[in-house]
Amino acid sequence: MAVLEKKATQDAIDLENKYGAHNYHPLPVVLSKGEGVYVWDVEGKKYYDFLSAYSAVNQGHCHPKIVGAMDAQAKTLTLTSRAFYNDMLGKYEKYASEYFNFDKLLPMNTGAEAVETALKICRKWAYEKKGISENEAEIIVCTNNFHGRTTTIISFSNDEVARNHFGPYTQGFTKIEYDNLDALKKAIENNKNVAGFLVEPIQGEAGVYVPSEGYLREAKALCEANNVLFIADEVQTGIARTGKLLAVDHENVKPDILILGKALSGGAYPVSAVLADDEVMNVIRPGNHGSTFGGNPVAAAVAMAALDVIKDENLAENAEKLGQLFRSELNKYIENSSIVKLVRGKGLLNAIVINDSEESDTAWNICLKLRDNGLLAKPTHGNIIRFAPPLVMNEEQLLDCVSIITKTLKEFEK
Ligand SMILES: Cc1ncc(COP(=O)(O)O)c(C=O)c1O
Repeated sequence: MAVLEKKATQDAIDLENKYGAHNYHPLPVVLSKGEGVYVWDVEGKKYYDFLSAYSAVNQGHCHPKIVGAMDAQAKTLTLTSRAFYNDMLGKYEKYASEYFNFDKLLPMNTGAEAVETALKICRKWAYEKKGISENEAEIIVCTNNFHGRTTTIISFSNDEVARNHFGPYTQGFTKIEYDNLDALKKAIENNKNVAGFLVEPIQGEAGVYVPSEGYLREAKALCEANNVLFIADEVQTGIARTGKLLAVDHENVKPDILILGKALSGGAYPVSAVLADDEVMNVIRPGNHGSTFGGNPVAAAVAMAALDVIKDENLAENAEKLGQLFRSELNKYIENSSIVKLVRGKGLLNAIVINDSEESDTAWNICLKLRDNGLLAKPTHGNIIRFAPPLVMNEEQLLDCVSIITKTLKEFEK
């Protein structure tokens, strides 16, 4: 039986390798079921999910309220395109605009599309409202950013793997150091054509870099003083992940443009959105932007249910409380560890830095062992492992996870 079961895992991996493009390097585990904080592989082994599909499954796997809303809507009306109105989109736009305190929402499907949308809105605002000459608008971005993988977005990435051999690149972006207000001030003040500043409130993919306290607040103030749009990419940090509804809420910042994705559907369906007030959003007119699936009735029903769950189940508060507990437990371990240098993060978006070179495979090997011990996580870069469980976790489960993690780390101590 065991041999047969192992074969199921290997067969699934072989199929992907043979018939799928090799654009990912997954951890070797084949999942076939999920519920709450748990996933199961094809051999029936149960794991804690400590990645949550890069923070998409904040509400837990297959949340009954979200799946129920999806099921009901899928049986009623799935897609009209925006050639016609549907009876769900307006309800969702009102619900989400009020939920996040903006005038309007533009619906998309994936995070990268929403980032592209925000960049287009920002440029159009620059020409029509700020008065920048045609084709001169600059958008400031940060080093080590991750905003997705479209041609324009990788144009301003400094991840060579994501960029190489995909040129020519899109112009109009100035890159400055993350968490450096002087650099932002110089970039804005030295160039009258700056239209926007695109920033992740915490750099998730780069390795969960939390900027200095006050950075976002001061950056927003600089933008405001210079008539530059502050664009927050909260695709990964948003929707309760960091212990507040939005990561910018930690500093009471209201972005001019807010980008959401991932947990906007609780991982049930691709749903993303851009939110802004009328002054900015109204530059978009019929024909300027769109997507066949963006704003479809299933997405609208799923997103409303997913946002309901966040409030109904106090997931931001839970993320804050469990995040504190997680870091304090790991810090106790780190005091006497030679393999882990530090833990950092906010809410339940955390990472540990492994005491080895960025090129080493130690973090990868730790993740393989964590898998064997019943917990799934993955390195972000080189020696950094991100820990981002579903926010529906309880304290007992979290402590169980801490004990799996520390037990595993012990196997790597020198
Ligand atoms: C901050 C941020 N922006 C954008 C994206 C892209 O989202 P998607 O993979 O849905 O295109 C991601 C994905 O990880 C992200 O973390």
